[in-house]
Amino acid sequence: MKKLIIAIDGPAGAGKSTVAQILAHRLHYNYIDTGAMYRGIAWKTIKSDVLNDEVAIGNIAQDINIGLHYGDGKTTVFVDGRDVTAEIRTPEVSRIVSEIAQIKSVRDAMLKLQRKMAGCGGVVMDGRDIGTHVLPNADVKIFLTASIKERAERRWRELTEKGFKVNLEELEQEIMARDKNDSEREFAPLIQASDAVLIDTTTLSIQEAVEAITKLCEERKSLV
Ligand code: DC
Repeated sequence: MKKLIIAIDGPAGAGKSTVAQILAHRLHYNYIDTGAMYRGIAWKTIKSDVLNDEVAIGNIAQDINIGLHYGDGKTTVFVDGRDVTAEIRTPEVSRIVSEIAQIKSVRDAMLKLQRKMAGCGGVVMDGRDIGTHVLPNADVKIFLTASIKERAERRWRELTEKGFKVNLEELEQEIMARDKNDSEREFAPLIQASDAVLIDTTTLSIQEAVEAITKLCEERKSLV
């Protein structure tokens, strides 16, 4: 049976990683969280104290050793051998990651790495530019979205559960700014690929979104 390449793109908080991980688990595929890779670079940029130095950040992206270990439905992220799974999700990293992801040398380095990681299939990869740039020949392309309000509420719940004190309105502003940055940037902006299927999760449960994508995958499998 052919193993598919599944690309899931969309803005922050649309439910991409949750949906993608359940899907990968169900299909016994690998899951690659490309946002975690950009977060890893942002984390190392902060640690290296080179925030305003694009060349230095580009060098970090070239040399960084990022490990994504997916198992039991969750991903552990390593940067240069250190487990940074929790550290890359702090508000501090979230605030700068979008800027880091705009740097051409950073994107070039990640594009190469992500294509290599996708191998020849049996993979669910999520991000912003997977269906448009990284894996334009993906078998199934999904563009997952939800209203800003809903996405901000999801992030608020997630961060509050982790013990961060965050303000819902500020989060909404931050998500809007990040969407704008991601969609209007010069290289590989966040846009729906022309052959991607749009799924709006504002009023859909995670399970319903997974079912919809699974159905698309079954249809696709019967064609290849
Ligand atoms: O999905 P996330 O919130 O963890 O992504 C973090 C940032 O990385 C987000 O600002 C967009 C950026 N990103 C990107 O530019 N391209 C990708 N393929 C994945 C993420």
